[in-house]
Amino acid sequence: MSRTIIVSNRLPTKVLRSEDGLTFQPSEGGLATGLGSIYRADGNVWVGWPGLFVDDPTEQAHVTQQLQADSMAPVFLTENEIQDYYEGFSNGTLWPTFHYFSQFALHNEKHWQAYVAVNEKFCQAVLELAGPDDTIWVHDYQLLLLPAMLRRERPEATIGFFLHIPFPSYELIRVLPWGPQLLEGLLGADLVGFHTFGYMRHFLSAVAHLLGLPNQNGLVETADRTVLVDAFPMGIDYQRYAETAASEAVIKHERTYREALPGMRVILSIDRLDYTKGIAERLLAFEQLLKRHPEWRGQASLLMVVVPSRDQVAQYQGLKVEIDELVGRINAKYSTIAWTPIQYFYRSFPFGELVALYRLADVALVTPVRDGMNLVAKEFIACKTDQRGVLILSERAGAARELSDALLINPTDTNQMVAALHEALLMPKEEQTARMTHLQDLVRQYDVFAWTKLFMDRLAYSKIKQHLLDVD
Ligand code: G6P
Repeated sequence: MSRTIIVSNRLPTKVLRSEDGLTFQPSEGGLATGLGSIYRADGNVWVGWPGLFVDDPTEQAHVTQQLQADSMAPVFLTENEIQDYYEGFSNGTLWPTFHYFSQFALHNEKHWQAYVAVNEKFCQAVLELAGPDDTIWVHDYQLLLLPAMLRRERPEATIGFFLHIPFPSYELIRVLPWGPQLLEGLLGADLVGFHTFGYMRHFLSAVAHLLGLPNQNGLVETADRTVLVDAFPMGIDYQRYAETAASEAVIKHERTYREALPGMRVILSIDRLDYTKGIAERLLAFEQLLKRHPEWRGQASLLMVVVPSRDQVAQYQGLKVEIDELVGRINAKYSTIAWTPIQYFYRSFPFGELVALYRLADVALVTPVRDGMNLVAKEFIACKTDQRGVLILSERAGAARELSDALLINPTDTNQMVAALHEALLMPKEEQTARMTHLQDLVRQYDVFAWTKLFMDRLAYSKIKQHLLDVD
């Protein structure tokens, strides 16, 4: 029987160390929920890092056993690998480069060597599990070399790859000393998927310029195989959000929040702490709104959730300080005894409370300077059971290609953001409903299950096509 092996840097379950020993916590990420339906079925398995340094063999055995029971296989990383492969090459080189922050990108040979070695480590872990008929689906920028490594060992295997972040212009890939190797790594797959056609075009152009391989309608001819490249905009588990939003418990949470903020218009902002998310720019725009439109003082609050992330990477530590200072400055300037302009939370929220925040919000302010897709925008839409609320969305998020009924803005244009905020706060109910209804139709239809099916069907098709070409 053929199975699907999902491979990503991070597993959908996080292992945490507490005073009582190791604990296991489900990750609420889009990928984890979306693929949840397939990785537990039919003997499928998910291979990845449990998110914590574990070196004691007894602890490792315990973690392996616990995860195995839930269809997962851990790849343990050493402290050096976490530093050089995860914090170093993945998040210190690839992340900034692919998000057009190449001024932050480290070019460090030691990090690159660790990246190669850890991709090999993942390769071995997959080979131990995968049978010849299994489908292997590799995810994201931490594992760009893995498809070619797997292909080397299993020439006939069915291998898919999906990139969850933007693929930048080839000019940025050209700056990386390891650009060609990364592209060759990806071309080990049968199908390479991106969120948008724009990213796909950038990839094809990089392959043409740096490897000299042209393409025809997204089909790249390598020396021995044909690789299909296509766009698959990722969705969310719409029903889960919509049903939770309609539940008694969440409505109760929302009521509690409303009672704490009587009559207040709520502008919601939710992100991982990351310089790609445009958090500082957003704060400056909110400050300008209060300055230019004093009528919103005491009437609107920015509720800002920042989820801690990658706090060992220097750029992230600096950003935390910058955000803390900005929030402090704006609150100190405009606060009154009865009103705090920015309600700032530096932590994650349990699922039900997060959904209650989406319900509560009049406006969602989603303004990344670069974002592969951005699922927060889609989650907000799924939670608006009364079809009210306005989404302000950056035109530089992959989601903007689909969500054209949002107010689309340039995240570095403060004037435009202020105007959009003012417009959103004043938008008539009928217009909110008309826009939200369209957005919901779209997000409901192209949910994460449709996304998974589309990718898997296309992967199967690419394999059949390859087979036919071989026969010819
Ligand atoms: C982005 C990436 C994911 C990553 C997530 C959280 O969404 O595309 O691959 O897992 O951020 O980042 P972390 O470094 O904590 O895994």
